[in-house]
Amino acid sequence: MADPASIGLLILQVLYTMVFSVYSIIESIARTILPRDYFRKDITGQIVLVTGGGSGIGRLMCLKFAGRGAKIVTWDVNAEGNAETVRQVADTGAFCRGYTVDLCNRKEIYAIAKRVKEEVGKVDILVNNAGIVTGKKLLDCPDESIIRTFDVNALSHFWTVKAFLGDMMLSNKGHIVSIASMAGWIGANGLVDYCSSKFAAVGFNDALHLELKVDGATGIKTTVVCPIYISTGMFEGVVTNKLFPILTPDWVASETVDATLMDVPVLMLPKTMRIGLLLRLILPDKVNYKLAQLTGVTTMMDGFVGRRKAE
Ligand SMILES: NC(=O)c1ccc[n+]([C@@H]2O[C@H](COP(=O)([O-])OP(=O)(O)OC[C@H]3O[C@@H](n4cnc5c(N)ncnc54)[C@H](O)[C@@H]3O)[C@@H](O)[C@H]2O)c1
Repeated sequence: MADPASIGLLILQVLYTMVFSVYSIIESIARTILPRDYFRKDITGQIVLVTGGGSGIGRLMCLKFAGRGAKIVTWDVNAEGNAETVRQVADTGAFCRGYTVDLCNRKEIYAIAKRVKEEVGKVDILVNNAGIVTGKKLLDCPDESIIRTFDVNALSHFWTVKAFLGDMMLSNKGHIVSIASMAGWIGANGLVDYCSSKFAAVGFNDALHLELKVDGATGIKTTVVCPIYISTGMFEGVVTNKLFPILTPDWVASETVDATLMDVPVLMLPKTMRIGLLLRLILPDKVNYKLAQLTGVTTMMDGFVGRRKAE
């Protein structure tokens, strides 16, 4: 029989958890409705490294973080696109250094990370943004493309975080941002390799988030960003209906930077996707299939051509 002292302790722990939960929910609502200026952290002089900064939302995030006073490091396999980002950020008067890195190459990631630390300094905010998509059905998808998709969209997160987290742990200060996708929560046809790699990125972030807390590294924050389609060119040819809008790159980049500055752990874009995810989890499979048809999810990839050339 359990002794009264341990039962009393358990009741106290349950009560504390309930009070803490109510407080946290009220705090979360306040952060949603009050002006964001109250909650953004100051990143003046901090070093922000963005992978895939050579185009799309990566470039826009470089510009927006620079606008907040940060020093920018951009990594991309596309040297030309990366140089253009460096030029655009430097034109604003901010510091920006570009490095050509192939995120499929683990040794190269570690080597360039070492150079960044020597040449620029300790990375305060790491944004794992680079991503690729094959856009083919599983049986048409070459093995090499599947491996490359996992290398860039998921495995590179392990290598970059391993390269920079140690320094963040020493000062108990830093932020790791993972640009995943709603495809990391809900699967879609024509995107089996992409969705699986994004599920991996979401899982990576979720486990790391808890591991840091348990290890007492409370000064190191994580943010995972999960948008639906964005008009960057990566998913060129995808057609959606009115129930499923295509997001603008500028809005996604702004929301991502704000979520980082406000230490938001999970950002789904649009935010209503949380309801979609809840329905996905609780409704019968047949209903989910009907909803996927209604929202056009099942046909969206029919016209996919993807990015034709590096921009
Ligand atoms: N575009 C969308 O609809 C959409 C939706 C949800 C999530 N996302 C995610 O957002 C992120 C940014 O996508 P985007 O739309 O800006 O695409 P984008 O193609 O404009 O940018 C991706 C960048 O990653 C770089 N990259 C690709 N492979 C690389 C490699 N091996 N090494 C280094 N860099 C590499 C590319 O050169 C490019 O600059 C990706 O992770 C993507 O999966 C995009």
